[in-house]
Amino acid sequence: MRSTIDTEALTRVALDAAEEAAILIMRGFRSRPATRTKGHEADLVTEFDEAAEQLVRARLAERSSLPVVGEEGGGDLTDAPTWVIDPIDGTTNFAHGHPCFAVSIGLMVAGLPEAGAVVAPALQTRWHGTRAGAFRNGKAIRVSDRANLGQSLLATGFAPNQEPKDASHNLRAFAELLPVARGIRRDGAASLDLCHTADGTFDAYWERGLHAWDVAGGAAIALGAGATITDLAGGPPDYRIGYLAVSNGRIHDALLAHLR
Ligand code: IPD
Repeated sequence: MRSTIDTEALTRVALDAAEEAAILIMRGFRSRPATRTKGHEADLVTEFDEAAEQLVRARLAERSSLPVVGEEGGGDLTDAPTWVIDPIDGTTNFAHGHPCFAVSIGLMVAGLPEAGAVVAPALQTRWHGTRAGAFRNGKAIRVSDRANLGQSLLATGFAPNQEPKDASHNLRAFAELLPVARGIRRDGAASLDLCHTADGTFDAYWERGLHAWDVAGGAAIALGAGATITDLAGGPPDYRIGYLAVSNGRIHDALLAHLR
C-alpha cells in the first residue's frame, strides 16, 4: 500500500494546509477565545479549532482523495492511507494565550505514521517529514545523541481524561523520573513534544492515553529524525491509543525501566 502513494508530495500538501490553518488560528491567539468542554472539564474546544479543521479538510480534499480523521469532525481510521489532523494540538494553551500549540497533520497507513507536518505559529516554527527524513524550518533534523538519562531533558503530558487516583496515572512515572533526569517539561501539546524530541531539544518523551490525531504528524516526523518509538513496555506502539515512549534510542531502555 505504501508504494501507491507519494509521501513526499503529500507532505507538501499537509504542510501547505497546516501553514494556512496556522494563520487562521493566530487570529484567535491571546484573544481570550470562548471555550466549550468536550466530555471532560479539561478537554477544551474553541471556534478556532472547528474553523481550522474545516479549512484543513477542504485544502486536503482539493489536492488528494484520501479519507480524513479529525479531532473535531471525527472519521474512521482504517488501514487505508488516511489524513489524521489535530487543528489545534494544545487547545488549553491556545485558549489561555500560552504559545505552545500547533496545527498537526499526519498521514497514517495501516495504523502507522508515514508523513507529517506540524506548524506552531506562535513559536514561528514548523516541522515536516517522512520516514526518509525530517526538517525544522526547512533544515534537516536528527534526534539527540545523549546516552545518559541523568543528563537528559524529558517531556511528558497528562491526558485530560485520566483519573489521578488511578494507579496507572502518569503522576507516578513523573515522580519517579523527576529526580533521575536533568529535567522534565510538560508543555501541553503532544505534537510539539514529539517534534522537540525529533529535533533533539528533548531526549525523550512519554505519555499515556493520547489520540491518533495528537501523535500522527509528530510521530512521523520523529521517526524520520531517527527516533525510537515503542509502547510503555517496549513493544510495538499502537498509535490509535497513544501510550508512547519516544526517544533518541540511546536512553530508551533506561527510560522504559522507569515506565514499566
Ligand atoms: C492534548 C495535548 C496535550 C495532551 C493531551 C491532548 P488537544 O491535545 O496534546 O499535550 O496531554 O492528551 O489531548 O486536546 O489540545 O488537541
